[in-house]
Amino acid sequence: MSTPPEVRIGIVGYGMMGKAHSYGYREAPRLRHLPVQPRLRLISGRRRDLVKKAAAAYGFEEVTTDWRHLVERKDIDIVDICTPPGTHAEIAAAAAAAGKAVICEKPFATSYTEGAQALDAVRRAGVLNAVGFNYRRLPAVSLMKRMIDEGAIGQLQLWRGCWLSDEFADPQTPFDWRFDRPMGGTTIADLGSHLIDMATWMAGGIAEVSAQSETFVKERADPDKPGTTRPVTIDDASSGLIRFIGGSRGVLEVARSCVRRACDFTIEANGSKGTLRFDYARLNELQFGDGTDPAHLYGMRTIRAEHPSHPYAASWWPIGQGVGYGSSFVNQFADLLERWPAGPWDPDFRQGLAVQAVCEAMDRAAAERRWVRIEEVATS
Ligand SMILES: NC(=O)c1ccc[n+]([C@@H]2O[C@H](COP(=O)([O-])OP(=O)(O)OC[C@H]3O[C@@H](n4cnc5c(N)ncnc54)[C@H](O)[C@@H]3O)[C@@H](O)[C@H]2O)c1
Repeated sequence: MSTPPEVRIGIVGYGMMGKAHSYGYREAPRLRHLPVQPRLRLISGRRRDLVKKAAAAYGFEEVTTDWRHLVERKDIDIVDICTPPGTHAEIAAAAAAAGKAVICEKPFATSYTEGAQALDAVRRAGVLNAVGFNYRRLPAVSLMKRMIDEGAIGQLQLWRGCWLSDEFADPQTPFDWRFDRPMGGTTIADLGSHLIDMATWMAGGIAEVSAQSETFVKERADPDKPGTTRPVTIDDASSGLIRFIGGSRGVLEVARSCVRRACDFTIEANGSKGTLRFDYARLNELQFGDGTDPAHLYGMRTIRAEHPSHPYAASWWPIGQGVGYGSSFVNQFADLLERWPAGPWDPDFRQGLAVQAVCEAMDRAAAERRWVRIEEVATS
């Protein structure tokens, strides 16, 4: 069998997501038969010693300390952005202008205006573009979407998502980019962008939102200036109500201040004939309450989302072995590379911007204590 042609990857940022994306590219061709072979060509980071160490661990050939150099390099086909949200739009626009396909981690941007500029840049350049909403690619989440589309729960009425973590629970955690609005965005956007992506994927576009937010730890130690603190400019926790364009209603809660909650998220859809519920702590399972079951079977059944008939499952392990977080990245890059170079890629920057509009509308609704129509953000 002939070797497929190479597609050369340049990743900007070597932190947690640089690691997860590298893993995804490396494993994708082992799990799925792809038309191209990803080659981990170049990775960038601001500190040479650290980026060199990461490059060796992740399997990259070369390093640079300047993302602009990475974006301009002739031997890079895909620029993959794994840096803090406040840097995404500028890097994405530069990569598009250099003719590269662009993959951007979530949240797409820290403002609708910046995100719209990045979308405009990829459209003008005519390059493929994608946003890293990886949780869509978990078999059970993907099965939930498929079952909703197939009518398993009838007419969708309610959609709810809740994401709790303890990332910010300790007041001693020092200040970093995640607490800084211009660089980190908000908790609404950090955790909520994943939920809003899944909500709109399953229940359609959002018309308006209301919300409340709170920052419990208002100052944090500044690691750059010992003995001083910096004000926290983002929300620790937010919750909101959603009206979908199609008529269904939703509830969303995100918090990074919940003691002893790790990365605990649940999503649930209630329809006229049934209920579907996913709990990330049991990510190979999907709960299904089928209203057409006979009365003596009343309750929710557990579907093992590992059967070869389920989305993604056939490329993985035999039923009973399960997959994990890393598999969502393998599935993500296999889906994208499968469509190289013609595309289309999905979810793309247009969807990233639509999600950003909802995040921003929630933020505005909380600040102004009122319902905010998405159009208010999306047209400003
Ligand atoms: N999809 C997911 O499951 C998931 C999980 C975690 C984070 N994320 C997202 O991935 C992105 C990166 O998060 P992370 O957890 O990898 O962060 P991280 O702090 O672990 O790594 C950030 C990387 O960006 C670099 N960097 C930091 N500040 C920079 C700046 N001002 N300019 C250029 N480079 C800078 C750092 O050197 C590092 O290489 C964020 O947008 C985050 O929301 C996604």
